[in-house]
Amino acid sequence: MVRTAVLVSGGGTNLQALIDTAERGEMPSVELALVVSNSAGAFALERAKRSGIRAEYLEKAAFEERLNALLEAEGIGLIVLAGFLRILSADFTRRWAGRIINIHPSLIPSFCGEGYYGLRVHSAALARGVKVTGATVHFVNEIPDGGEIIAQRAVEVLPGDTPEALQRRVMEQAEWIILPQAAEKVAEMLERS
Ligand code: GAR
Repeated sequence: MVRTAVLVSGGGTNLQALIDTAERGEMPSVELALVVSNSAGAFALERAKRSGIRAEYLEKAAFEERLNALLEAEGIGLIVLAGFLRILSADFTRRWAGRIINIHPSLIPSFCGEGYYGLRVHSAALARGVKVTGATVHFVNEIPDGGEIIAQRAVEVLPGDTPEALQRRVMEQAEWIILPQAAEKVAEMLERS
């Protein structure tokens, strides 16, 4: 099993999907060992604690330095960004190359890159009038949302959609499915390498 850290900033529904998948025994290569938030009030921290996973908040000052120390101390082999809304430095992403993945709520290369996060992504998709959107899991490199794509799933945009309604459908029909699948796939690859 690969000791895995999940980085979060908010509600943590993607973290919950990872926890639920692990509890069902469907992610055998992933050991959820650590949850780190850059936001003290993130409900994701509660979700981690409830499931007996170590949960840490790290403040802005020396964030990456402290994060690296924590990851090393916990023997982490895979990092999953699950609604983590801070951009990581090139130094950090290089250090963890091939071991860090992210879920993004659109079909990359649409509606991605700096400034596209959370509801903003869905507002932009609705403003452009696309009929299909979705989610993407990708490796993280120094370019925001620019790393190699691991998995994607399409979701229909429906007449009358609000950003909130579309966000919920993309989560239910894409994110919560492909993130655990991709985490398992990458962990399995890492175990074999
Ligand atoms: C999710 O929709 C995730 O894809 C998105 O933030 C939301 C977090 O929800 N991430 C990004 O926009 C990253 N650019 P959650 O905290 O309930 O998992």
